[in-house]
Amino acid sequence: MGKQTLGFNKAFVEIAKALNSNSNTGEKLHLLVKATARALGVRGCSLMLLDAQRKRFFHTASQGLSERYLRKGYLEAGKSLAELLNGKAMAILDVETDPRVQFKELALQEQISSIMSVPVETGGEMVGILRAYSRIQREFTAAEEQFLFTVANLAGAALESGRTNEEEHPTESGQEPSPRPAPLTSEIKPVSFAHPSEEEFARLLDFYQIEWVYEPRSFPLQFEGRATEMFTPDFYLPALDLYVEMTTMKPGLTREKNRKVRHLRELYPDVNIKLLARRDYDRLLAKYGHGPLAGAKTHGVGRVLFSDSQVQKRVSQLAKEISQDYEGRYPVLVGVLRGVFCFLADLMRYLTVPADVDFMAISYYRGGDGKAVRVTKDVDIDLAGRDVLLVEDIVDTGMTLSFVLNYLKSRKPASLQVCTLLDKRVRRLADVSLKYVGFEVPDEFLIGYGLDYEEEYRNLPFIALLKREKQVKKPKT
Ligand code: PRP
Repeated sequence: MGKQTLGFNKAFVEIAKALNSNSNTGEKLHLLVKATARALGVRGCSLMLLDAQRKRFFHTASQGLSERYLRKGYLEAGKSLAELLNGKAMAILDVETDPRVQFKELALQEQISSIMSVPVETGGEMVGILRAYSRIQREFTAAEEQFLFTVANLAGAALESGRTNEEEHPTESGQEPSPRPAPLTSEIKPVSFAHPSEEEFARLLDFYQIEWVYEPRSFPLQFEGRATEMFTPDFYLPALDLYVEMTTMKPGLTREKNRKVRHLRELYPDVNIKLLARRDYDRLLAKYGHGPLAGAKTHGVGRVLFSDSQVQKRVSQLAKEISQDYEGRYPVLVGVLRGVFCFLADLMRYLTVPADVDFMAISYYRGGDGKAVRVTKDVDIDLAGRDVLLVEDIVDTGMTLSFVLNYLKSRKPASLQVCTLLDKRVRRLADVSLKYVGFEVPDEFLIGYGLDYEEEYRNLPFIALLKREKQVKKPKT
């Protein structure tokens, strides 16, 4: 028997043992890719499964690939995978020249020269791809291709039995389910969210035209010679390179998720993940008049955070800084209506450089009515070649600002910077760069100096917390 055939047989023994063990599906798949890479003598191997939206393949179990590559290197299901979709193998001899490679630069940085892929199916439907990555440029032999097809079949069996077990023995609360394969069909089916708050969050992202992927991939967290614990974040926002995990109101589960996120950050320091606690999310929704905290009865003004004189002092300091930076230039200040009007009016009066002023307004999220954010009032001044300073009263999630900045960039200004009076950094999702910041503020509902609660309190000369009449009952999860 040839050396390679012996290697294949050894891999089959290892994979069969793993499949027959009482490990979870994640562990089984990890052992499977490890044995496959070793038997083929390649740099790496990965099992990529279709995400819940059935749009992209994400690395689910892998061996020999860097975190950076795994994070960015998902594959668009609709693109360049024709052979695989027809149940055939896809061989890429030269990553550098093959047009089917979706992330060429990343693959080259990863020192991948050739890739061999075969489809993974369960119950006759394609649910994923098994890929072997070679550092040296090589053709894969018919025997190697056959080996990969067999391993892909075993992976399909592991996925299928994982799914059946899950249906028969639903996972206990707090435990991660095994990776779930999703059948690939030509049409994109709606995602089934585990919780209504996730669905609402997806609608909010849709409104701000921020692309998202639900349950994109599983990260191995515990290794005891193999992955024994996995963690699957709820969302991945590719444009922001951000994973978002939403927590529930159950303290036990929240603690467990916090632990997992901490662990994930330790193991994968390059992964950008944000934990969105349910209460914080409810507060965020309340801003748009939605969710369980919306419409809470209030009786007015709570603790004053910044007095009139503190606000004026800080605004004058910001104006001084801006005047120094824009010395000899003639900037345009652009305010996003309406909350900014007090701040912008004061800021302008403290400036010692000449400046134009203009305003724009955008639509706000009103629940999932299918409409996306749009500009409802455009700037009138021609911004081409001008030094634009975008002025905001508060930056919260950063989604408004990220949309507005993209919009203003298309006007080809000579420069574009941001000045905000308040920065609610703890709630940031879109990481926008802020040149001038007045105050960093806590995650509380703020009113006054232009900021409103249902259009009230904008006229207060100070900034205060909104006082709620009574503690709102915790929603059931
Ligand atoms: C505020 C503020 C920003 C936006 C920031 O506007 O003026 O434009 O929220 O939030 P984000 O960072 O989460 O996107 P608001 O919706 O309160 O409207 P208003 O200015 O008319 O009061």
